[in-house]
Amino acid sequence: MSKDSARPGEIRDLAKKTWEVPELPERYLLDLRSECNLACPMCLLHGSDDDEAKEGAIGKMEFDQATQILDEIKEVKPLIQPSMWGEPLLAKNLRDHLQNMKDRGISVCMNTNGLTLREPLARFFVEVGLDSIFFSLDSTTPETLKKVRGVNKLQKIEDNLRLMLRVREEMGATMPRIGATFTVQDENEHELEEFIDKWVQEVDVVRVGTVFEDGGLTGISTPQERVPCGALYHTMPIHFDGNVSICCFDSFATEIVGNVFTDGGVKGVWHGDKLNKIRHYHETNQYDKVPFCKDCNAWAGYVYEEEVTKRAGVAVLERRSHQFVYYNRLDRMDSWHENLRGHEPPDFEALEQIDLDEFVAEEA
Ligand SMILES: C[S@@+](CC[C@H](N)C(=O)[O-])C[C@H]1O[C@@H](n2cnc3c(N)ncnc32)[C@H](O)[C@@H]1O
Ligand code: SF4
Ligand code: SF4
Repeated sequence: MSKDSARPGEIRDLAKKTWEVPELPERYLLDLRSECNLACPMCLLHGSDDDEAKEGAIGKMEFDQATQILDEIKEVKPLIQPSMWGEPLLAKNLRDHLQNMKDRGISVCMNTNGLTLREPLARFFVEVGLDSIFFSLDSTTPETLKKVRGVNKLQKIEDNLRLMLRVREEMGATMPRIGATFTVQDENEHELEEFIDKWVQEVDVVRVGTVFEDGGLTGISTPQERVPCGALYHTMPIHFDGNVSICCFDSFATEIVGNVFTDGGVKGVWHGDKLNKIRHYHETNQYDKVPFCKDCNAWAGYVYEEEVTKRAGVAVLERRSHQFVYYNRLDRMDSWHENLRGHEPPDFEALEQIDLDEFVAEEA
């Protein structure tokens, strides 16, 4: 693994995988409400200046409709992200939605801009057993935050992240797993290393991601040999109106593969002709027949390799794909529950064998 750069995009060749379609997807993006209190320039929905398209793509899902979906998928104990291109903390009845999910044994992982978190909600997250919460910070200075997220309230977001850490500790809990994320762009890249070193000392996991723009991930060295995209085999992005797009990057749902409320539920869409045809084109190397996927390179983001390493004097399990790098603190692995990000859990037993004090004290 290349350790020259903290940027994603530098892993060895992708492992060959067998592409199987499970009975139900294991991971869902559920667009409970697509509104947001920010308009980050890179955001594939709110960063757009096409107001008409945005109007059609923004809405909210009725509570009963969300429950209908949960009742269908609960048997596979999937993972849900309760937003797509929106801010989950703004969802109406958020607590009821989360309670509904957890009552059904579903893992819930959240990304948030963190601006509106308050102590009662943070306490609820612990009580309900939220599995993970990642705060999107993308910067170490208010000036850079302003450039990449359009606001300069870095102190507020950092305070709210630390509020979540404090509340969890006070309540004697290990969940939710708490992360800080940095989506790399030209405007913030100079703060990346400082960001990792700073937050790896406080949170359970730091995530570094690449930006998707103009139909692909930026700045990655795409492997020459293309493989079918993992998104088609494990993830279903369900927009507020029940429409399902090929993947989450289709923020305006331009290529709909079905609707979970009118086309036979989640199973009907998942095994429907449209998605099966797209998978067939991927498996037979006919990517040009799927316009949305044709020039995309994000398929390379679904295979990870990992290594135990050190960052700012902290022992971490570094998981690296072409899209993300995760710095998972080894002394906080107790917050890693079940099916956290839709990909395989690490070898916990092997990690427990590591003497962390000794490992950290070793010379590089
Ligand atoms: C779309 S947001 C939704 C949740 C929440 N509003 C937030 O910002 O965390 C989820 C994550 O996607 C990242 N993101 C935004 N635009 C992106 C893009 N064009 N490519 C890749 N990631 C992006 C954000 O930085 C955030 O970490
Ligand atoms: S906070 Fe999240 S949903 Fe809102 S504009 Fe930024 S990336 Fe998009
Ligand atoms: S190849 Fe790209 S556009 Fe197609 S499903 Fe995968 S991530 Fe989405």
